[in-house]
Amino acid sequence: MSVPVTYNMKNSVIFKSGLSWQTIDKIIIGLRFRGEEQNSSSLNRKHPPSILSQADRFLQACRRQPVDTTPIWLMRQAGRYMAEYRALRERYSILELIKTPDLATEVTLQPINAFDLDAAIIFADILPILEGLGLNLEFIKGDGPVIHNPIRTADDIAALTVRPAEETLGFTLQAIRQTKQALNGKVPLIGFSGAPFTLASYAIEGGSSRNYLNAKGLMYDQPDQWHILMSKLTEAIGDYLRAQAEAGAQALQLFDSWIGSLSPADYRTYVLPYSKRAIEIARTANADIPVIHFGTGTAGMLPLIKEAGGDVIGVDWRINIDTAWQMLGDEVAVQGNLDPVILATAPIPEIERQTARILQQINKQPGHIFNLGHGILKTTPIEKVAALIDFVHTYQNSN
Ligand code: CP3
Repeated sequence: MSVPVTYNMKNSVIFKSGLSWQTIDKIIIGLRFRGEEQNSSSLNRKHPPSILSQADRFLQACRRQPVDTTPIWLMRQAGRYMAEYRALRERYSILELIKTPDLATEVTLQPINAFDLDAAIIFADILPILEGLGLNLEFIKGDGPVIHNPIRTADDIAALTVRPAEETLGFTLQAIRQTKQALNGKVPLIGFSGAPFTLASYAIEGGSSRNYLNAKGLMYDQPDQWHILMSKLTEAIGDYLRAQAEAGAQALQLFDSWIGSLSPADYRTYVLPYSKRAIEIARTANADIPVIHFGTGTAGMLPLIKEAGGDVIGVDWRINIDTAWQMLGDEVAVQGNLDPVILATAPIPEIERQTARILQQINKQPGHIFNLGHGILKTTPIEKVAALIDFVHTYQNSN
């Protein structure tokens, strides 16, 4: 079967047939994936960059391969800024959404159906893994997550039990299988976990924290206990990521959201070996799966984050992305780095100006995934999300 289209490097497809873009895309995707598992390595091997489409962009960029246009997805892209999400939240708690695979699948697809995003991220949270270890988690309206039995003593740490992800987080693994099927190759699916430090902070503080007095207190006062706790978390995180890859996730993101609260020296001593090990375990299912290593406030420790591992390093807005990439070196790709407050508050021309600055700093170097520097805020207007995505996709073509 031949598809009556011609390809053009700058602007991916020109139609001669009158078929819609969606129809053409489905035909192309169908042709590519007929009879083969849609894994990322088959994408890479069999399809030259000249016929790249939305299904390839994100994974190609993770591997620093040329793309037709810059891929974009948004951290926390499924969430309260969307009316569809808020409507479901009227009927279900966040943990019910996460633990019911049909609902988690539906929520994962909401932003994919609403916007022209280049990757889906499974709807879950970084905290349910702590339930599997024996902690009692609740999301309280207005207050965010709370752990009712935070870790404070050596006995608390000894009581933590690491069980296989299939037993403790089977609902998310099932949601990945279902979402993968529903996406049908349209865009890749990202799995994720919290990183050892960020999860240790929640487990010890019992919720969000400003100064991490308890978490850092354990680290400095009882380093042996800190290392035991981090080892257990690392085992659980590594196994969860591995299981997500086995369930069909095509990329994995490690969220170390609060890592910027540490000095680089303490990151090296107390954290780096654990994040590194978690990434190593994650790769035991599929050595080639792209891993995105994300943190905020990391400008002073980017080379260390890279040393811990990851094919793509997430960068917040507190550093220029070109400076960050220079510090990291070009063996890794970068993801970022628009301030989420700009997307939530600025008028569209200002959003476009700020976005153009980031894209200019990247200067078309292969290996950039556009994203916010942290999760999208709940007050973000959806028209601004649509305008941002459109601007990123068309920018390269017009320059
Ligand atoms: O990106 C996605 O769309 C996937 C879903 C996702 C959620 N949480 C859903 C969620 C992801 C990737 C996360 C990660 C997460 N969760 C992080 C790391 C990223 C970051 O933002 O730093 C952290 C620190 C958490 C912990 C967490 N979960 C907090 C602090 C809160 C409450 C704060 C808030 O925004 O309300 C959550 C709840 C949560 N997780 C929501 C969503 C959509 C909002 C809860 C709701 O629906 O009421």
